[in-house]
Amino acid sequence: MYPVPADFAAKAHVDAAKYQEMYAASVNDPEAFWGEHGKRLDWMQPYSKVKNTTFEYGKVDIKWYEDGVLNVAYNCIDRHLATRGDQTAIIFEPDSPDTPAQYITYNELSDKVNRMANVLLSQGVMRGDRVVIYLPMIPEAAYAMLACARIGAVHSIVFAGFSPDALANRINDSGAKVVITADTAPRGGRRTALKSNCDAALLHCSDKVRCLVVKHTGDQTTWVQGRDVDVKYLMEHASPDCPCRPMNAEDPLFVLYTSGSTGKPKGVVHSSGGYLVYASMTHQYTFDYHEGDVYWCTADVGWVTGHSYIVYGPLANGGTTLMFEGVPTYPDAGRFWAVCEKHKVNQFYTAPTAIRSLMGQGKDFVTKYDLSSIKVLGSVGEPINPEAWNWYNEVVGKGKCPIVDTWWQTETGGHMLTPLPGATALKPGSATTPFFGVQPVLLDSTTGKEIDETAAEGVLAIKDSWPGQMRTVYGDHERFMQTYFSDFKGYYFTGDGCRRDKDGYYWITGRVDDVINVSGHRMGTAEVESALVAHAKVAEAAVVGYPHDLKGQGIYCYVTLMNDVEPTDALRKELEVWVRTEIGPIAKPDLIQWAPGLPKTRSGKIMRRILRKIAENDFGSLGDISTLADPSVVDELIENRMNRG
Ligand code: WT7
Repeated sequence: MYPVPADFAAKAHVDAAKYQEMYAASVNDPEAFWGEHGKRLDWMQPYSKVKNTTFEYGKVDIKWYEDGVLNVAYNCIDRHLATRGDQTAIIFEPDSPDTPAQYITYNELSDKVNRMANVLLSQGVMRGDRVVIYLPMIPEAAYAMLACARIGAVHSIVFAGFSPDALANRINDSGAKVVITADTAPRGGRRTALKSNCDAALLHCSDKVRCLVVKHTGDQTTWVQGRDVDVKYLMEHASPDCPCRPMNAEDPLFVLYTSGSTGKPKGVVHSSGGYLVYASMTHQYTFDYHEGDVYWCTADVGWVTGHSYIVYGPLANGGTTLMFEGVPTYPDAGRFWAVCEKHKVNQFYTAPTAIRSLMGQGKDFVTKYDLSSIKVLGSVGEPINPEAWNWYNEVVGKGKCPIVDTWWQTETGGHMLTPLPGATALKPGSATTPFFGVQPVLLDSTTGKEIDETAAEGVLAIKDSWPGQMRTVYGDHERFMQTYFSDFKGYYFTGDGCRRDKDGYYWITGRVDDVINVSGHRMGTAEVESALVAHAKVAEAAVVGYPHDLKGQGIYCYVTLMNDVEPTDALRKELEVWVRTEIGPIAKPDLIQWAPGLPKTRSGKIMRRILRKIAENDFGSLGDISTLADPSVVDELIENRMNRG
């Protein structure tokens, strides 16, 4: 146990006693608690109803502040102008340390967002229309998000590492009118050709979709007359005034696609009012953010972490948020720490996978920088292993900075289980205790019953709604109910396994479904399988996760080839490249094992449990294999596995 440093608690928004008091209030009377905290936003028309939610299967309906009217961009920009117009809103740190940083004040942010909003209007984007954003980590990504919010359009960001196919699917599923991209994106000294990816994607989309191009590097790209638009040019000629459209609290702010255990990625829909209340409140309390602090979250705006904790949370709080275009290892493994020193970062938020990869490069990359400005360190995306926690604590934090290990999901909008740095004693590897208003429960996976004992293990579910919760799956409310509310009636099911210790601390043990977590990125094994079987030489494929030193989990593929196809190393390479291009670099298989047959039940269901064990090199505990149609395939798979070492 690492107790809260007394001097930290004294200055924090919340200490241990206040946490107890506020938590009790939040669950005893959610209506009163969230009614009060909803006031952290500026409302054009105040709400009279706070909470109207049901988790009842078949009727799931989630509404917060349902008659309130507000504008998210107003809350992130305009309301700050009178008091902090000249304060830096966004620090932009480019890929190359030799390119000067940009310090974008709230006044400048207002100017840019208004112009961008007018550009969108000029392209025919109306309230409720979807806008796909396929941009690197540049200020224009934030301008685009806020410009959508300003005019009531719904953005859907597609991570710039996704392939043209993945981009096309998301443009089509969301029915977007416009896609915003950039010419090329510098990352780690190399350049990704975003515009040409976009060109490839748009071949599979309606020819009405407009392509707004941010000329970021000035690299040459193709240009389709009548379809492609130079955003920066239009922004220069647009008016810097664009009124904020009054939006209902329940109007969707954005759709973000995420992987599940089955089918294609689903569009997670977030609201305007409840989402912003929750994102801003968690940002303030989890990081103990104070006026004037410089805050840095290293995520990409393509993931929910970037939405809530680079853009919406920090800006709603009038904060200074850092956007970093580059990678942790360029020009060398000291870049994170160089940037922390350069901009005197106070709160630093990153993923365990980044910490593990930097750990391996040695301490010197850290210790040569002055990190004394850092007050709080954060972790997100996967369980943090004790070695990484200790290194983060000792080498980066010098033993003086509380580490907030935040457990949450794309679906939850904001932190669910997390320490508050001034309130919660830490245990390395535990996301500790719930945020205000969050009622976690452990369920017995077979009976579905709540487990009452404090020390227990089960599947993690949430008992009642919180304002940041997703509202639906875009265009498919049935799928929303089916995915999250059908297995365990009356609860929101997270898909995670979890242990609770005798002190009531929660320890996430990983997904219990067919979702894997690769470097903090979520991947449906089904998606990788369908990419593999789309290859002409592949008959069948089964994909599982296996422990990987750096990535947390790696992607392990069992592939059965068509009858007459030779299994060669060249083909293995070809399949790796194939999956990369079908989905994106983050889905590249780590291991491909040729499988003459897959272990199936007599009804034809692949027994993944067995495949997971074999991938883990754990042959002793395969469990009952007698129900297999052909148990001998297991021996063959084990033999092949052992031959590979
Ligand atoms: C899944 C959600 C939350 C934004 C980034 C990922 C895993 C997330 C933690 C943590 C253990 C974690 C869970 C969760 N996860 N944070 N602190 N400790 N596991 O969002 O892509 O929606 O993935 O990431 O398995 O269900 P996501």
